[in-house]
Amino acid sequence: MERTWWKEAVVYQIYPRSFNDSNGDGIGDLNGITEKMDYLKKLGIDVIWLSPVYESPNDDNGYDISNYRGIMKDFGTMEDFDRMLAAAHEKGIRIVMDLVVNHTSDEHPWFVESRKSKDNPYRDYYIWREGKDGKEPNNWGSCFSGSAWEYDKQTDMYYLHLFSRKQPDLNWDNPKVRDEVFDMMDWWCRKEIDGFRMDVISLISKVPELPDGEVGKNGYGDYGPYVCNGPHVHEYLQEMNRRVLSKYDLLTVGECSGVTVEEAKKYASLDGKELNMVFQFEHMDLDGGESFKWNERKIRLTELKQVLTKWQLSLMGKAWNSLYWCNHDQPRMLSRLGNDSPQSREVSAKMLATCLHMMQGTPYVYQGEELGMTNVPFRTLEDFRDIESINAYHELVGKGVIDGETMMRYLRYKSRDNARTPMQWNDGKNAGFTEGTPWIMVNPNYKEINAEEELTREDSVFYYYQKLIRLRHENSIIVYGGYELLLPEHEALYVYTRELDGEKLLVICNFSSEEQNMELPEEFAGKEGSVLISNYEDPKLEKNLTLRAYEAVVFRF
Ligand code: GLC
Ligand code: CA
Repeated sequence: MERTWWKEAVVYQIYPRSFNDSNGDGIGDLNGITEKMDYLKKLGIDVIWLSPVYESPNDDNGYDISNYRGIMKDFGTMEDFDRMLAAAHEKGIRIVMDLVVNHTSDEHPWFVESRKSKDNPYRDYYIWREGKDGKEPNNWGSCFSGSAWEYDKQTDMYYLHLFSRKQPDLNWDNPKVRDEVFDMMDWWCRKEIDGFRMDVISLISKVPELPDGEVGKNGYGDYGPYVCNGPHVHEYLQEMNRRVLSKYDLLTVGECSGVTVEEAKKYASLDGKELNMVFQFEHMDLDGGESFKWNERKIRLTELKQVLTKWQLSLMGKAWNSLYWCNHDQPRMLSRLGNDSPQSREVSAKMLATCLHMMQGTPYVYQGEELGMTNVPFRTLEDFRDIESINAYHELVGKGVIDGETMMRYLRYKSRDNARTPMQWNDGKNAGFTEGTPWIMVNPNYKEINAEEELTREDSVFYYYQKLIRLRHENSIIVYGGYELLLPEHEALYVYTRELDGEKLLVICNFSSEEQNMELPEEFAGKEGSVLISNYEDPKLEKNLTLRAYEAVVFRF
């Protein structure tokens, strides 16, 4: 397999609004990121993925862009951006921008024009349809509740918005839209940014007839089959690649809801015609349910192993995986799949990290994950800021699908806001995030969980992540080695091997709070092995292995 820097890199995701506030307005900003560049260098990451910092009315925290070539005032200025980029580059850290081009903000000048009249030159930049019998053109529901259509009086027609009504979908079938998007991307590349994380890029090509979808519990039709991996998506990405991506040395990752391994082999094929890698969602959807993500189900380890192993094996030698537990759209994995109680928090955070970082693919660390940050004890609906969570509460509780108290529990467990509370820098005021009033509450556990404390302590979660990142840089077996799952039926242990050029790693992770026994696999019996990393002090390589609560160990043979 061809060796490339982005296969060997570890990416750190920054959600700027919650990372570090430099001017006391309660909102994280670009200068705040620049201030923390040494911290990131110390962690050892290679790349920062920056969630959107473009001009935006902030209906969906910047994922609704009104100017792709400007910086949101909350975050600073273009000069601040340039300074941050230079500071990162000086330290050898690359910057990957979020590219949100399935939709714009309804305040983007293109849409402002588009809605003016049916013959406006920008009309076909978006997806407009006539109503059907005085109702929406089809039954699709939006990702953020309600219909996916918004009626516009001006021209007596509806526009499509898969997300909020302030996020109208662009019409990618219009070549002018593609020209505009590619020009804009090229503009950023000429500023020497280092790549793109492409927001819901699997949704850009819609089946033109826009047929009704299967109706779910919320009363709306599912657009998935007509939108995910749509008819022209690969054509458009290949065009993007030819016209922009191939001219630069970039990291490109597509956020691909609804992606299957077969589709991923096209998006992220090693032949380099489209993107470097995709974010898939299958492991995140394992605890979905009838009202989709809103529930308290637990992920079953056997299912998790099956899904992750499928992705490891199916893409091996054909395409490239990205590896993640957390991002700004997911609750904290430590509270979801690990154990965030005081006595197990650190050990289980390290175990989860080991399990993910020893796989093949490019790992992503989400801000605070490297500290073992947890879900948040939100009190009432007023504590939430996320449009998805707030709308879902009103829709599901309003329609009587779920009662209010239950829905509050679901939000506390699954809301995206769990990942969006301020980064916990120290045990001082507002966790050191801001001198002012933070835009969203600080997790009260910042007194115990914060960067300053962890940096003073060798056995902290922070230094464990630092070591995992260093090991990946030093051992090509972790990047390029083959993968094999052992004990697929085991309910508590995730065991797999990696192999490259006659060398082998045996990765063992105990996902439970109970001791687990396991016999050393035959092929390793009597072999000389050493410990590459472990979250306990004294793991022993024996014929009969005993794994303690949340123990993780990697043996090298
Ligand atoms: C992606 C983003 C998410 C956003 C949505 C709409 O899923 O990660 O935060 O709300 O797209 O842009
Ligand atoms: Ca600020």
